[in-house]
Amino acid sequence: MEAVEKHYNRKSESYESVRESLVFRIYDAITWKYLEPYVPTSPNSLVLDAGGGTGRWAIPMAKKGSKVILLDISEEMLNIARQRIEAEGLADRIKIEKGDMRRLDYPNDTFDLVLSEHTLFLFDQPDQMVSELVRVLKRGAPIVLSAQNRLVQALAHLPDDATANPEILQKAHKVFHRQHYSMLSEDPPIKIHTLTPDEFRDLLERSGLTVKRMVCKGATMPLRFSQQFLMRTDVPDQTVADILQLELAFSEQPDTIAMGGHIQAIARKK
Ligand SMILES: C[S@@+](CC[C@H](N)C(=O)[O-])C[C@H]1O[C@@H](n2cnc3c(N)ncnc32)[C@H](O)[C@@H]1O
Repeated sequence: MEAVEKHYNRKSESYESVRESLVFRIYDAITWKYLEPYVPTSPNSLVLDAGGGTGRWAIPMAKKGSKVILLDISEEMLNIARQRIEAEGLADRIKIEKGDMRRLDYPNDTFDLVLSEHTLFLFDQPDQMVSELVRVLKRGAPIVLSAQNRLVQALAHLPDDATANPEILQKAHKVFHRQHYSMLSEDPPIKIHTLTPDEFRDLLERSGLTVKRMVCKGATMPLRFSQQFLMRTDVPDQTVADILQLELAFSEQPDTIAMGGHIQAIARKK
């Protein structure tokens, strides 16, 4: 079993509760805002949610009317998805498949939308994964992907007081130059792969896509708020709404992309 599969099998039970934390409430609200307009509504349309995990996006997408294939490498993440999909009465609209998005069994030009949210950071060869997703996407159809921003990832290492921990400056430098990686997990070891906004755009363009829009997610987040605050699950709704309003104001500005912890891209197959 691959390290990633093992990791998400272990995390599956707590995955949905972690999404109640401030950071994910904000990220998820932004994801949906820029994903929803591209979700087809016809019952004849077909969406691929690659690395769809617990069905976080497959469920709202299916509610809009289309059929969804929820594909994931982790059996345990899919088990959680299965329970949630059944509870929502959506088993006839969402087909669950265990598989590897780097090697898909579907023919070329199959899907009306491909989503792969919060997965690109897991791949050391992102070209392989993106071209496989593009292969199964219909010509002219949209794809929504997100990347972890290396500019923010490097700066997030900086301490409040650099004299107390001077070597951390070197760490930030090394993360920036990909000589050192932040880790998603130490056992099994899983690196967090990052891209700068320009690298992300280049990756999409050389994969046969026309980039329509790139938005920043989390401009207020990893650098401005403490990790402890970001992971709190008891932040009052009004505070979350106020932070979200600020986030959306930033995300509407094209020149703020470099500030987001994540970058969400919407592109179309040429
Ligand atoms: C951070 S989770 C994101 C889940 C979901 N997209 C979301 O936004 O909540 C990453 C998911 O990608 C899945 N994954 C990782 N590598 C994969 C691969 N090669 N093929 C299919 N799924 C994969 C993991 O099992 C996990 O469920």
